[in-house]
Amino acid sequence: MTSPQARRPVVAANWKMNTGPDDGAALARAVAAESLPFAQVDVVLCPPATGLAAVVAAVQGTPVAVGAQHVFWEESGAYTGEISVPMLEGLATYAVAGHSERRQLFGETDLDVQRKTLAILSGGLTPIVAVGESLDQRDAGETLGVLRSQVTRVFEALTPAETAACVIAYEPVWAIGTGRNATPEQAQEAIGWIRDIVAAVQGLQAAELVRIQYGGSVSPENCQELLCRDGIDGALVGGASLDAGKFAAIVQAAAP
Ligand code: PGA
Repeated sequence: MTSPQARRPVVAANWKMNTGPDDGAALARAVAAESLPFAQVDVVLCPPATGLAAVVAAVQGTPVAVGAQHVFWEESGAYTGEISVPMLEGLATYAVAGHSERRQLFGETDLDVQRKTLAILSGGLTPIVAVGESLDQRDAGETLGVLRSQVTRVFEALTPAETAACVIAYEPVWAIGTGRNATPEQAQEAIGWIRDIVAAVQGLQAAELVRIQYGGSVSPENCQELLCRDGIDGALVGGASLDAGKFAAIVQAAAP
């Protein structure tokens, strides 16, 4: 069920709560310079919200895209501290929803992730929907069930065309920031399950078109063996994305 030619690899940098406007802009310029030769890969930088404008200015005129790490699904109103999708106009063309740090530390539920994904799509942005199991869940043999409920809850609310327009990031929680990446076999197996779940919910065509990344301790050392796997359409990168050279190596490994 793969049609790799139809799916452009996408490598996204999740800078998390690192960088301000100035150092973020400098990092973005370095990434744009390093990544420019790799025209077959969509490259997305997700700085903290306060750095979005500076990063947009820094990558202007390059193919590098900018994404938000977090949005709220309402458009405006009394939601202190939140940022809505319409407020990102001109600042982001992607937005992450469902990152495990948001789920674990800030109590985001599958229903929240669904609402955010719908809001991101209705604003014309591309959602990067993150899913993944904890170590306890993997050890208990619950990975497939966890992925089924996380993926179904979001994608049952979308149309097939909206589904196809999304990026999904498979990020096993135990691999994030731990230096312990999933093996290529584990990543490929879970991503295959995710594609099957999308097919069950939204049909084969949407499942063939939706891009599914791997995320969790991706590095220049392990990216080649992960990203050459059929069905793995790029990476969501945390730690290594704060170094332009390391991130560029990962972008290069994602090129077909
Ligand atoms: P990591 O983070 O690459 O530092 O493991 C990945 C992520 O949280 O998206």
